[in-house]
Amino acid sequence: MQNKAFIIAIDGPAASGKGTLARNLASHYGFHHLDTGLTYRAVAKALIDQGLPLDDEAIAARVAQELDLKGLDRTVLSAHEIGEAASKVAVMPEVRRALVEAQRKFADNLPGTVLDGRDIGTVVCPDARVKLYITASAEVRAERRFNEMRAKNADADYNAVLDDLKRRDERDMNRSASPLKPASDAHLIDTSKMDIEAAFLEAKKLIDAALRS
Ligand code: DC
Repeated sequence: MQNKAFIIAIDGPAASGKGTLARNLASHYGFHHLDTGLTYRAVAKALIDQGLPLDDEAIAARVAQELDLKGLDRTVLSAHEIGEAASKVAVMPEVRRALVEAQRKFADNLPGTVLDGRDIGTVVCPDARVKLYITASAEVRAERRFNEMRAKNADADYNAVLDDLKRRDERDMNRSASPLKPASDAHLIDTSKMDIEAAFLEAKKLIDAALRS
């Protein structure tokens, strides 16, 4: 019986497919899953709901310290404005410190966990047993996001989606606190020309090998 959680760390830019992959892997291996982006989104939403400023680090950090990971609702938190606000609070080191502490506690759940985000392999779980960095070209990611939006709302605009993704990449990759980058020991999976099943099989191969070792 293993007494240490088997941790799978998945990082990558917005709309790379990492969220779906993380959910599928967690379900396949019977592991707990945390989309860490939701934790940043939940802090942003709590600030907005309480009429608090998005640019006051002490206030945002207090909200982050009080966050309950059990109450994260993907449907509510996936709104576009919340994503924008989340990328602003995510640049604050004190917010990151509080959320990373909660994420690390979650990561220790037995028998294993899958965490996805931007800094899992580099900062949150540097000792994860498997680290994956999922990427795809900005154009392919924008097309996926556009098709998702199109299914719900006929006036989605591809160029606006692409510009938005590029702006978000820029903010995530160039911030000073925990910028998005692959860990030196991460396996890179480029999903530009791969469907979700192919990405799953590639990840599964790497994880099965780590589970055997
Ligand atoms: O993946 P997402 O769109 O739900 O993430 C929302 C914001 O939170 C995004 O700007 C990146 C940021 N984030 C982060 O800085 N670190 C993480 N581990 C996860 C998300």
